[in-house]
Amino acid sequence: MCGIVGYVGPKQATPILMEGLRRMEYRGYDSAGVAIINGDGVKVKKAAGKLSVLVEKLRTETPRGTVGIGHTRWATHGAPTTPNAHPHLDRSGKIAVIHNGIIENAPVIKKALQNRGHVFKSETDTEVLAHLIGAYYEGNLEQAVAAALWDVAGAYGIAVISADEPDVLVAARNGSPLLVGVGEGEYFVASDASAILEHTRSVVYLDDGEMVVLTRDGYRVRNLTETHVEKPVNQIEWDLATIERGGFAHFMLKEIFEQPESLHNTVRGHLLEEEGSARLRGLNLSDEDYKRINRVIITACGTSWHAGLIGEYIFEEMARVPCEVEYASEFRYRNPIVDENTLVIAVSQSGETADTLAAVREAKRRGARTIGLVNVVGSTIAREVQGGLYLRAGPEIGVASTKAFNSQVAALAMVALKMARLRSLSLLQGRQFIEALQALPAQIAKVLERAPEVEKLADRFAEAHNALYLGRGVNFPVALEGALKLKEISYIHAEGYPAAEMKHGPIALIDENMPVVFIAPRDAVYAKIVSNIEEVKARGGKVIAIVTEGDSEIGRLAEAVFTIPPTHDLLTPILASVPLQLFAYYVAVRRGCNVDQPRNLAKSVTVE
Ligand code: G6P
Repeated sequence: MCGIVGYVGPKQATPILMEGLRRMEYRGYDSAGVAIINGDGVKVKKAAGKLSVLVEKLRTETPRGTVGIGHTRWATHGAPTTPNAHPHLDRSGKIAVIHNGIIENAPVIKKALQNRGHVFKSETDTEVLAHLIGAYYEGNLEQAVAAALWDVAGAYGIAVISADEPDVLVAARNGSPLLVGVGEGEYFVASDASAILEHTRSVVYLDDGEMVVLTRDGYRVRNLTETHVEKPVNQIEWDLATIERGGFAHFMLKEIFEQPESLHNTVRGHLLEEEGSARLRGLNLSDEDYKRINRVIITACGTSWHAGLIGEYIFEEMARVPCEVEYASEFRYRNPIVDENTLVIAVSQSGETADTLAAVREAKRRGARTIGLVNVVGSTIAREVQGGLYLRAGPEIGVASTKAFNSQVAALAMVALKMARLRSLSLLQGRQFIEALQALPAQIAKVLERAPEVEKLADRFAEAHNALYLGRGVNFPVALEGALKLKEISYIHAEGYPAAEMKHGPIALIDENMPVVFIAPRDAVYAKIVSNIEEVKARGGKVIAIVTEGDSEIGRLAEAVFTIPPTHDLLTPILASVPLQLFAYYVAVRRGCNVDQPRNLAKSVTVE
C-alpha cells in the first residue's frame, strides 16, 4: 500500500527519493510523485501509472534541491489519476503533503474550506489536509501541521514540506507506519525501511500520535501536545542484498527458494530436543499462563489467516485446547467473547495490517492475552502485543506471501508444542514433532530441486480459466492457500474447498477443462481423499495431486502427481504448499503477469 519517503540533507533529493520509491514498489501502487524545495518554490512532479512514467517526466526536467518528499499511491479516495497522485499542494502552492491512510472527516473539512473560498484540484482527502495545513500556516510549519492534525479524524502517515521553510520536513503518524532514518548529516522519513536502507540502518520507529521535525542538523520527536518524546534508535539487521533479487527472475521465486533457510531461521534456537518442547521467551508467558489458557483465538488476514487455520488443527490436535481462527476484519467489529484466559494470537508478515492491528487492540481492551507472530521487526503489531515471536524469515518483497506463510505455520507449531507439552503431549511425541520440524528445511530443499517438474506442469495448465484446490484436515487450508496464490498472481479464478464439500456445489463446475489440485499425502484421511479423486475423475476433471513419496495408488487416477517427502501429519502443509507456490508462480509467468506486483494488490494493507 502507499509508500512515503522524505529527505533532508546535503545531497540532491530527487534521485534519493526515486530510489526509495523504487524500493517500495513491491508494496503495490498505481501512481507516484515527488515534491522538492527548489529555489524559492516547491516543484511537484507526479504521474499516474508505474514509476517508469514518472521517470520519463523527470527526464525532461529534474527538480533540483536537497529537501523533498516522494510518494507511491494505492488509490482509496479517487481514481488512480495524475491529479489525484501525491504530493498535493495547499492553496498558496508552497506547502506540499504526502499521505498514507484515510482522513475520515475530509468531506466536512473540505466543505468548510470551500466556504472560505478554497478550490480543490483532486478528489483526494490528502489535498484537503494540505489546504488545512496551509490555512493554519503562520510562519511555522511544525505548528501548522500539529494544529491541522488536531482537526482530523482517521489514519495517517504524512510528510510535509514548505517553500517558506526550506530546511524543514515535518512528518507525523497515526495508524500508518512511519520511521525516521538517521544518517550522517542527513535524515530521512519512510513508511518502510527498505526505502532508506541504502543510506542508513539506524532508524527510529514513530508511534501513533507522534510527530517528527527533521532539519539539516538533526531530528526531534514530539507528540501533538508539543511534549518532547525520547525515542530509541534501532539498528536494522538485514542489508541491501537481502532485498535484491540476487539472480532470480522475480522476488517471489527467490523467496520460494529461500524457504529452507527462512524456515531454519524461524525455528533456530527455539527447539528443546531433550524436553521435546520449545523455548519461546519473547511470548512473556509463564508455564502457569500456558496452563490457564482455555481458549486460543488466531486472528489474521489473507495468507496469514490461512496459516492460522493450519495452526487451529495443530493447537487442537496437540495441545487439546479449543482454537478458533477469525478474520481480523470480522473480529474487530463483532462482540467477541474473550477473557483473561483467552490467548489471542495475531499472525502478520508485515506487522502493519490495519485490521489485524485493530483486532489486537480490541482483544487487549477486553483483557485477553495477546501475542504476535510477526515478520517485520519493529512493526506496530510487534510493538503492541504483550509478547511475540519474530518469524525471522527475512524481508518478503513479492506481494504473494510464500516464505512468511511457512514460517508462520512453523511459529504456530512451536507455540502449540510448548502449550501441548504442559498439558497433553508426551515427551516422546514432543521429540518426534521436533525431529520432524528440524527435518523440514532439508526436505523443502529436496522439493525445490524438482521445480522444473512443476514448471512443466504449469505449461500444461497455464490456459485454464478456473481451478479447484481440494484437501482434507490440516491440508484443507493448504487448498485455500494454493488457490489464493494462483488467483493473486495469475488472475485465474481458483477456489479452495475441503475435499468432501466438493459434492455440495463445486462438483457442478467440473469438466475436462477444469484442473483439480488435490493435496493428498498419506495421512489419516488418505482413503477418503482417494474416493474424492475418483469422483472428480468420473466427471472428466483433470487431477493434479500432491502425494507422499512412494504413493502408487493416486498415480493411476491423476493426470499428474508431484511427490513430497513424508513428515509428521500436522506438518505436511509446509511441504505441500511449496509445489503449489511454484505452480502459481510458473503459471503466472507463462501468462505474462507481473508476478511481484499483481494488479490491485498491496503487500501491506494499512487501511481497512
Ligand atoms: C495482503 C498481502 C497478503 C497478506 C495479507 C496479510 O493482502 O498481499 O500477502 O497475506 O495482506 O498481511 P500480513 O502482513 O498481515 O501478513
